[in-house]
Amino acid sequence: MVLLASGTPVPVECGPNAKYKLTPEALEAAITPNTKWLLLNSPSNPTGAAYTKDELRGLADVLLRHPQVWVMTDDMYEHLVYDDFEYFTIAQVEPALYDRTLTVNGVSKAYAMTGWRIGYAGGPEKLITAMRKVISQTTSNPCSISQWAAVEALNGTQDFLPERRAAYQKRRDMVVAGLNAAEGLTCPTPEGAFYVYPSCAGVIGKTSPSGKVIETDKDFAAELLEQEKVAIVFGEAFGLSPAFRVSYATSTEALQEALTRIQRFCANLS
Ligand SMILES: Cc1ncc(COP(=O)(O)O)c(C=O)c1O
Repeated sequence: MVLLASGTPVPVECGPNAKYKLTPEALEAAITPNTKWLLLNSPSNPTGAAYTKDELRGLADVLLRHPQVWVMTDDMYEHLVYDDFEYFTIAQVEPALYDRTLTVNGVSKAYAMTGWRIGYAGGPEKLITAMRKVISQTTSNPCSISQWAAVEALNGTQDFLPERRAAYQKRRDMVVAGLNAAEGLTCPTPEGAFYVYPSCAGVIGKTSPSGKVIETDKDFAAELLEQEKVAIVFGEAFGLSPAFRVSYATSTEALQEALTRIQRFCANLS
């Protein structure tokens, strides 16, 4: 997206030691006079990591020192947070950033309306007006039927959200435990979304019964798909290896079966 807009993307590594989160120090070090935007996503796809109020405070303090930097926050998974995690978004934590924040959300995840193709954003009027022009002349506008469905989702009862959250939390806990029980995998427990991002460092260099040596997370994903018909996304696709993403947005039964197969696959590596 940044390249399409003729920008230069500057990925900042947010590894497992930082719980897959951007630290104020890393943000400060990445900012130059040319920096235009910080793209933030909490809870995150692919790691499930979500920023606490204090962590957002730390990032906001850095941004206050760099008035040329705007922030786009992708809050798509705001309703999918677990345990006692309390959700905050950056403009709420630091209202002084309000005039340079674009807050993005959608109905795809919490409302399971992926196919309706509705995302929305709140931000300074000048920016929204420009966005409207670009969208209108490129992809054109979302259909009115989908817009009304999204209005109903957002204005209608939200009663089902706690139930949905509880179901996801149960699946997250099951998936984290099942992956940690697999030889060579280490899976941290994320705060939100419906993904986990385990490290597969412990299987790199091992050999599959087919004779294939697992040299990268891409090899791990390909061999797991080949041998056990379990689909994951390898970490290289997200820029952080050796690891992979598991989505637990599926039934408990399917997840249990997948975990059994992943454990068997790992146990059969030598
Ligand atoms: C963080 C995040 N933002 C936005 C989207 C886009 O969702 P959609 O294209 O369904 O609106 C996704 C989808 O995976 C996502 O994970």
